[in-house]
Amino acid sequence: MSDQPLVLGIETSCDETGVGIVRGHTLLADAVASSVDEHARFGGVVPEVASRAHLEAMVPTIERACDTAGVRLADVDAIAVTSGPGLVGALLVGVASAKALAIGLDKPLYGVNHLASHVAVDQLEHGPLPEPCLAMLVSGGHSSLLLVEDVTQGVEPLGATIDDAAGEAFDKVARLLGLPFPGGPHIDREARSGSSVAIDFPRGLTSGRDLQRHRFDFSFSGLKTAVARWVEAREAAGEPVPVADVAASFQEAVCDVLTRKAVDAAVANGVEDLLIGGGVAANSRLRVLAEERAARHGVRVRVPRPALCTDNGAMVAALGAEMVSRGRTPSALDIPADSSLPITEVLA
Ligand code: KG4
Ligand code: ZN
Repeated sequence: MSDQPLVLGIETSCDETGVGIVRGHTLLADAVASSVDEHARFGGVVPEVASRAHLEAMVPTIERACDTAGVRLADVDAIAVTSGPGLVGALLVGVASAKALAIGLDKPLYGVNHLASHVAVDQLEHGPLPEPCLAMLVSGGHSSLLLVEDVTQGVEPLGATIDDAAGEAFDKVARLLGLPFPGGPHIDREARSGSSVAIDFPRGLTSGRDLQRHRFDFSFSGLKTAVARWVEAREAAGEPVPVADVAASFQEAVCDVLTRKAVDAAVANGVEDLLIGGGVAANSRLRVLAEERAARHGVRVRVPRPALCTDNGAMVAALGAEMVSRGRTPSALDIPADSSLPITEVLA
């Protein structure tokens, strides 16, 4: 028998119903049911559709995770769940399911922050988190730079996007280019055959007073508009849109800003480890550029494998297991689903 805690984690903050099972830092199962196809024709996640899909997927996904891990629910030491931030109706399904399991099995409940889970998941791949580390979380809903001392205690926000999230920019630009939703992976693929220097798109908040006032913040809405104007001008002139070049040049602008600011934040805070998480961390160019720039400043980069970067239940279980190992007090059984849970609150 291992003395590492066996934890089941549930994630329903957006369109993925994730149920993960970990023992300490060891991943045993990561079952994900996605409703992404049901949202594709709307070009974005429809909250009501997501909630209903979570309801339908919850029990089968729990069963699948237990089968894969070869454990029974009764063996689990604790239940962890994303209590926020996210879509409230979607979160409610996960929180209610986790409470039911915790009560039925008489096991402690840990309501955890989605963003802190994106940080904690890396332990499943690369072992204990360096303390402190600089985390850059880039997803469809968030783009933040966080200073993490102890992920179970809290994180210090250094900066965030002031308008669109990085993933949102990928999704919107993909739509402009006629690529399917979610757009990130399609832009990533198109960009491979395009030129990243074909078009000089703007880099938000990287110079002059903007940089002074927003050193660790991001802005992607100007970039998105610049891409839209460029594409419209080509179309108005009756010329074909070079999709691969637009994708590569846009992707370069996003990755340039993200990596520049992340490395600057690490150096400014004397931190030697940069962790990148969230769906956009799956981007191939972001990974390469981050490695290159960080190495020049003696900073190491950790990026979980793509399946652990996008939303999943294993990340919630990973943070829950860390809470148990570090002896944190479990959540009350009446915790709410908090759609705007601040990043500073790691445990509800
Ligand atoms: O973390 P995540 O699965 O869900 C949220 O919490 O938002 O992130 C989804 C986002 C989407 O915007 C998607 O387009 C983006 O991550 N994404 C990517 C890539 N794979 C997923 N963006 C750029 N390149 C990729 N390879
Ligand atoms: Zn996420």
